[in-house]
Amino acid sequence: MVIRELTGGLYFGTPKGVEKLPDGTERGVNTMVYTTPEIERIARVGFEVARKRRKKLLSVDKANVLETTELWRKVVTRVGKDYPDVELTHMYVDNCSMQLVRNPRQFDCIVTENTFGDILSDEAAMLTGSIGMLPSASLGSAKNRAMYEPIHGSAPDIAGKGIANPIATILSIAMMFKYSFDMEDAAMEIENAVEKVLNRGLRTADIAEPKAKKVSCSEMGEAVLKELER
Ligand SMILES: NC(=O)c1ccc[n+]([C@@H]2O[C@H](COP(=O)([O-])OP(=O)(O)OC[C@H]3O[C@@H](n4cnc5c(N)ncnc54)[C@H](O)[C@@H]3O)[C@@H](O)[C@H]2O)c1
Repeated sequence: MVIRELTGGLYFGTPKGVEKLPDGTERGVNTMVYTTPEIERIARVGFEVARKRRKKLLSVDKANVLETTELWRKVVTRVGKDYPDVELTHMYVDNCSMQLVRNPRQFDCIVTENTFGDILSDEAAMLTGSIGMLPSASLGSAKNRAMYEPIHGSAPDIAGKGIANPIATILSIAMMFKYSFDMEDAAMEIENAVEKVLNRGLRTADIAEPKAKKVSCSEMGEAVLKELER
């Protein structure tokens, strides 16, 4: 689970923009900025989510060179004192990126700032075989308010072909039950249905081995639904 701060950091910080310099060249600027409340807020989300999982939280930063993430590490560590049941560790983002490929099983829950989370979540998605497998949630600060969607985009290159993998979307509904409605049983039923269908060998094109039989998007969806009804 990658918990990515989504409203601050490099994508929103100011000053930003491209300016013309007197010598005719241009200068592009973005600013990675975080305040204590912004870090506290996402850290708490991280600890709460970790509590619902293996009670391990890894905070990813680049505190050796970026001062803003030096503050990140300090604040996450402080918030961690309120969650003594969750084991908190830290890792630099470059190492994390490497470790995800080397030994993904060492990870359970990652909390990180916006840009690092953008990149690491796509990398983590691919570890599952396809971006079509991973659900996501944009959690609001108000309790239970969130938006659930697959991690991928609208996949315009395969639109209308009936070959998209619907599992990321289906698992997003499971996340909704778990994180907004506190209905772990319903979430688990959906996750189990998906797992059973995969264990039976059903594969959409993105996760099929070469020459293996492929099912369409709607065939996969129907199969999960049938399993759920069972
Ligand atoms: N969360 C989001 O809102 C989000 C995330 C990524 C991209 N987007 C938007 O989606 C549009 C397309 O972006 P993109 O092409 O860079 O990313 P994308 O995620 O739509 O597609 C990337 C690649 O993954 C494949 N893919 C994606 N979903 C798949 C699925 N369910 N099954 C099988 N293959 C799948 C696509 O065919 C494509 O080759 C853009 O407008 C982008 O801004 C939105």
